[in-house]
Amino acid sequence: MSDAMALPAPFAAISRRTFLSMSLRSLAACAIGSLLAPLRSAAAKSSPTPRFFRRVVTQDNRTTALIEWQTDALLDDPHFFWKEARKKEEREADVDVKYLALDGHNVFVYRAALRGLAPGRDYQCRVVSARRDAGTFSFRTDSGDSLKALIFPDSQCDNSYDAWERVSTEASRRNPDASLWVNLGDLVDNGESFYHWEGWQSATDASLGVRAFAPVMGNHECYALDWKYATPAAFLGLFATPPNGSTKHDRYYYAFDYGPVHFTVLNTQREELDGFVPGLFREQAAWLAHDLARTKQPWRVALLHRDLIDYDAEPPAPDEFVRTLIPILEKGGVDAVLTAHVHAYRRRRLTAWKHDKNGVLYILSGNAGNCFYDVERHAIDEIAFADNIVNFLTLEADENRMTFRCFLPNGLQKDFVTLRKAPTLEE
Ligand SMILES: [Fe+2]
Ligand SMILES: [Fe+2]
Repeated sequence: MSDAMALPAPFAAISRRTFLSMSLRSLAACAIGSLLAPLRSAAAKSSPTPRFFRRVVTQDNRTTALIEWQTDALLDDPHFFWKEARKKEEREADVDVKYLALDGHNVFVYRAALRGLAPGRDYQCRVVSARRDAGTFSFRTDSGDSLKALIFPDSQCDNSYDAWERVSTEASRRNPDASLWVNLGDLVDNGESFYHWEGWQSATDASLGVRAFAPVMGNHECYALDWKYATPAAFLGLFATPPNGSTKHDRYYYAFDYGPVHFTVLNTQREELDGFVPGLFREQAAWLAHDLARTKQPWRVALLHRDLIDYDAEPPAPDEFVRTLIPILEKGGVDAVLTAHVHAYRRRRLTAWKHDKNGVLYILSGNAGNCFYDVERHAIDEIAFADNIVNFLTLEADENRMTFRCFLPNGLQKDFVTLRKAPTLEE
């Protein structure tokens, strides 16, 4: 949870002096024009191969899309072309490139923002570099009707990401019709480690495929190489999540629509971030009330990393956001709140911290990595599994029903719950 995991094997042999030297080189992610100039001339000699293509969610996934990809050296004269699959005419979109200094490695993140798309249609994209095709990507826009999503709890692994690759591959293979992919935070064990991001991305790439990706920031994304708290520069640099309108804390929290669901992604890293981004949490609370008041979507789901219960407290007690955010969520008509961080599966139905079969559905989502904790069942829990399982969730929704299922990687269903909209009177 909040305590640092043991250093992975590749770090274990690193001396403190080397480690500090590495940390100094691991500066925050940023777009640095002056740095790009010398790297650009080097790129002309041999253009690298784009990899880790992904579609990060936008506020409206029916008519817009954001495509990202990466290289370890600067692409020579990159261009991005796209078209609707059934049509011939291609259009070109601007390519934006950001440089990320990550743990002594160069990472170039490219973005192309597409607008004016049609809902529920297939699109094809290609990247051209040095006048040659360098990579292709396909996707289907959100129809706006029904939705099937894959929801993953913490995928952090303490050495190899094989465990994460197994569960995410099986989840993907068993649910080819899922169009959205959510990671509920702690994607990686250390947010400044190239080794961890490379492991996570390599394990995720094939299974994520064409699905839209919604990452939630976890506390482990806010750890520096020395395990001290840090701004989540790599997380913010790798994934251009939707803007939230904040001039100071853009993308630290965000919202998007997919199918009939409005998703509100909240930041629960007060312990890690309050010293770096003061005012973030007060601002987020005000934004949350407006966000929920604005949406017209049939369903509202909040995605949080930390769980309702802080198990690091003695005895375990409600996390501080229970006092600040939960009343806003309940008043704002949220149907379900998904949490992570504890690496355990729990299901609750609550109103104002009391069991209520008509209350908000709270699911603590489980574990999709190889780090296991041992936590007690709490009085608010209705369903609690042993803490040594690895699992994933699906969310299926149309305008009348929303169902959450919990699966083991072998496809065994462990839990399910369906929410239904109260029938309205027809006159
Ligand atoms: Fe975690
Ligand atoms: Fe966590």
